[in-house]
Amino acid sequence: MPLTNRQILLANRPQGAVSEANFRFVDVPLGKPGKGEVLVKNEWLSLDPYMRGRMNDVKSYVPPVQIGEVMVGQTVGEVIESRDPGFAPGDTVLTPLGWQLYGVAKGADLTKIDAKRAPASYYVGVLGMPGITAWFGLFEIGQPKAGETLVVSAASGAVGSVVGQLGKLTGCRVVGIAGGKAKCDYVVGELGFDTCIDYKAGGLSDALRAACPTGVDVYFENVGGEMLDTLLRVMNRFSRIVLCGLIAEYNAAQPYRYANLRSVLVNRIKMQGMIVFDWKTRYGEAVKGLSAHLSAGRLKYRESVVHGIDNAPAGLIALLKGENFGKQLVKLA
Ligand SMILES: NC(=O)c1ccc[n+]([C@@H]2O[C@H](COP(=O)([O-])OP(=O)(O)OC[C@H]3O[C@@H](n4cnc5c(N)ncnc54)[C@H](OP(=O)(O)O)[C@@H]3O)[C@@H](O)[C@H]2O)c1
Repeated sequence: MPLTNRQILLANRPQGAVSEANFRFVDVPLGKPGKGEVLVKNEWLSLDPYMRGRMNDVKSYVPPVQIGEVMVGQTVGEVIESRDPGFAPGDTVLTPLGWQLYGVAKGADLTKIDAKRAPASYYVGVLGMPGITAWFGLFEIGQPKAGETLVVSAASGAVGSVVGQLGKLTGCRVVGIAGGKAKCDYVVGELGFDTCIDYKAGGLSDALRAACPTGVDVYFENVGGEMLDTLLRVMNRFSRIVLCGLIAEYNAAQPYRYANLRSVLVNRIKMQGMIVFDWKTRYGEAVKGLSAHLSAGRLKYRESVVHGIDNAPAGLIALLKGENFGKQLVKLA
């Protein structure tokens, strides 16, 4: 076992787009687990859009990463040494250890996972936070009914791909929005959405009207900005908007100025923010449902992998530019 641990720290806060200069690499002595603690060797690091928000010093639903702290993130890893009777060397665990090759965590902060049931990386993807977000966001906030039209943005991504497939399983007509032909071909050909609009081709408003001749009943929003503003013009009366993410605004210096909010009033649209933690006590319900669909072949899933911890900053930068194609991961070991 090596004696050192490589970590990536937040060096300074980005102004606008994230750059490599916002991170600092350090090699530190490997920690020793105390009573009730576990030493984990991380195998997979999940890269997620929320990480951009944690780099800002602003009040949000969780505190920001402090300068000099290890960048936040979920990992999947192997227990190397345990001083918690609930864990043994060789166990595969889901951890909050962040951007580092090894880490010591309290046993209470780890979740044992069954890597025989599904690949270990799936527990930070389709069977993890993004999949759970899709499940509760769609079913609890979106409340789709068979025959309704559901539109999903960032449709090929970790959350969007699951939302659309669950929508199809519910009997909805599902319209994806994604950037580029390759992503749209995948969304329709592989994931089984009814159609997909390439917003980068221009003319989103006309394309939406053509794809949704009876209007939109549920809109699952992952992007925000101009996309949300355009959707507001095609929402039906008493429709629902699941406000899950605003990735188009995360790097922006100024917030987007919405022009079509009047539609919420006129059409009695219900728009609710979605924060996955609010369903913490019910995660098991979503994982059970998602696992059943996955093992029956009803859910398709795709990953975008960068290799080596030193490439984690580049992976996050690419994700925030929309260059990922599927759930973004770093393979650490
Ligand atoms: N609230 C919660 O609890 C929660 C939990 C998980 C995720 N989220 C949110 O859900 C959204 C999707 O997350 P994810 O993990 O599934 O990521 P993802 O969809 O796998 O990746 C992000 C995608 O966003 C799209 N995108 C659209 N406009 C963009 C822009 N201006 N800049 C960059 N990307 C753009 C890109 O796809 P295209 O090329 O198709 O545009 C990109 O691939 C994010 O907004 C995230 O913050 C919220």
